[in-house]
Amino acid sequence: MNRPVLEGMRLNVPAYVKHDRLVSWVAEIAALTEAQGVHWCDGSKEEYDRFCDQLVGAGTMMRLNPELRPNSFLARSAPDDVARVEDRTFICSERQEEAGPTNNWMAPAEMRTLLQTGDKALFRGAMRGRTLYVVPFSMGPLGSHISHIGVELTDSPYVAVSMRVMTRMGRGALDVLGSDGEFVPCVHTVGAPLQAGQADVAWPCNKTKYIVHYPETREIWSYGSGYGGNALLGKKCFALRIASNMGRQAAQGDNPGWLAEHMLVLGVTSPAGKKYHVAAAFPSACGKTNFSMLVPPAGYAGWKVTTIGDDIAWIKPHADGRLYAINPEAGYFGVAPGTNEHTNPNCLASLKSDVVFTNVALTDDGDVWWEGLTNEPPAHLIDWQGRDWTPAIAAENTAGGKPRAAAHPNSRFTVAAIHNPVLDAEWDNPNGVPIDAFIFGGRRSTTVPLVTEARDWTEGVYMAATMGSETTAAMAGGNGAVRRDPFAMLPFVGYNMSDYFQHWLQIGDKLAKSGATLPRIYCVNWFRKGADGEFVWPGYGENMRALEWMIGRIEGQAGGAENAFGTSPRYEDMRWDGLDFTPAQFASVIGIDRAAWQQELVLHSELFQMLHHNLPAVMPATKARIEQRLSA
Ligand code: GTP
Ligand code: SPV
Ligand code: MN
Repeated sequence: MNRPVLEGMRLNVPAYVKHDRLVSWVAEIAALTEAQGVHWCDGSKEEYDRFCDQLVGAGTMMRLNPELRPNSFLARSAPDDVARVEDRTFICSERQEEAGPTNNWMAPAEMRTLLQTGDKALFRGAMRGRTLYVVPFSMGPLGSHISHIGVELTDSPYVAVSMRVMTRMGRGALDVLGSDGEFVPCVHTVGAPLQAGQADVAWPCNKTKYIVHYPETREIWSYGSGYGGNALLGKKCFALRIASNMGRQAAQGDNPGWLAEHMLVLGVTSPAGKKYHVAAAFPSACGKTNFSMLVPPAGYAGWKVTTIGDDIAWIKPHADGRLYAINPEAGYFGVAPGTNEHTNPNCLASLKSDVVFTNVALTDDGDVWWEGLTNEPPAHLIDWQGRDWTPAIAAENTAGGKPRAAAHPNSRFTVAAIHNPVLDAEWDNPNGVPIDAFIFGGRRSTTVPLVTEARDWTEGVYMAATMGSETTAAMAGGNGAVRRDPFAMLPFVGYNMSDYFQHWLQIGDKLAKSGATLPRIYCVNWFRKGADGEFVWPGYGENMRALEWMIGRIEGQAGGAENAFGTSPRYEDMRWDGLDFTPAQFASVIGIDRAAWQQELVLHSELFQMLHHNLPAVMPATKARIEQRLSA
């Protein structure tokens, strides 16, 4: 094979790389970005350890106390590079209506001029003074028929380290590619070239940010951020925005296509030994990781919840007429604040060693802390920006009326799934697990009941499509305001939202026509608040009670009462042993306030107006039926 050499810079292609098109593309990007060198990641433990040492040397990470947190690190980002940047995220399809009204759009040619080809193209020279890491990865089990391969070229060793934890990264992915396999090219730069002799900073990034997707050519280009979903391109960019396009394009003729969803997948086994699989979509920072690792409360002896995935599911119809889901990821990039021994003991157990924490606080003995880890904060900490923190300092420096947080509200841990003590035995099954129920849930302090069952697939799609949720710190600018977040996918559907609704409806239609029993669809809300401003529902492990009711419905055992939107449990339809939760409290989380719902339906109308182009007719028709029932 012809191995290109760029003006004296070697591409360092390992002998095991057999894919000419990949090598040419790496050469092209190395030339464009003027990277100082190229490193092909093999995904080995030695390589990981070497990168970590290098990141410690550069000041990006520090090693935590090995006696308290073996082989674990703390990274601190730049103060303004802390979350996904939705307003800088683009779907560059040829036609704007393909991206639809919920996505930022720019014509591909125009975007390419800006990023690649123009005189001042942002990627030109963007990696000067830095190494380009070639990061091959598989989303999904290596070689699974549901999996896909990506290759990320990045100038961030923090990204390379994170990708090894979050995906099946390295030689194994290249082996699957062979000499001419298809891969999704992902180009990432922090956008901080170094001049000769210029000292680096601990967390290089750029004020200008672009998170760009070309759905037709299935490419991802990310500029300016080193954080989370902006930079770990296998996650939201590939596994949701590009994959949602792939799944819809696969729908041809009899092939119903497939789904790429912002969903956890869990297994739940009853004392009778019957196992169900549930996929649940909650918006960012609304409880997926927690639900996927749920510990059933006392009184639920014999019940067991096991994790298949905590954030993303790829779901494919199978010849038996059922929908099978895989977790395309291999690790968790989870929210730290709020995680503790009571709320999520399995998560804490996953974090005992081999973790990269980002933007949490540092204790005096070299361990980590975040808001909610303990009731009382330690007397002294170093906060997520490296400043001294004490309760007194926090009280003097309020932010939004609250004491200044020691950990950033979107601080996170990165850890491999294999550390999860309740990892499902089937989590790595290349065929996935059969889904029995879909759950959709938002963060709503009012209006939306604790749990409701849709009467049929269409009503479930309607519930999911019209879901609202309060925005969180997982997105830059998230401030708790309610917005519509269809299917918890508002920032992640890589094409026209109305077409996405249609795709869901069609999959249901096709499966139903084949005689299959469709998964039940539920809508939940753990977050209703009382007059005191506190959550009424205890949440976390107690969510098992709602889950048990849903399973009871599937089994035809659990009762319920129909309301305007579907069927919700009455107090007597749920099990309460071991929990002091009164009928009055229950009424306040399950009740339907007619005035609030009339207002809610106005918001559904606004959503439908925005999405009027291609909006499936059953959506307004379903809404009309709800309105009728509400006023009856
Ligand atoms: P992303 O990783 O951003 O997609 O978030 P996620 O959906 O996985 O949310 P996660 O489980 O990390 O929870 C986010 C925050 O919500 C944490 O602070 C949790 O402690 C809190 N949370 C999760 N489940 C519950 C619940 O049942 N009740 C309450 N009150 N809070 C919860
Ligand atoms: C989310 O925001 O939904 C996340 C975190 O899961 S990130 O990977 O940054 O998108
Ligand atoms: Mn997420």
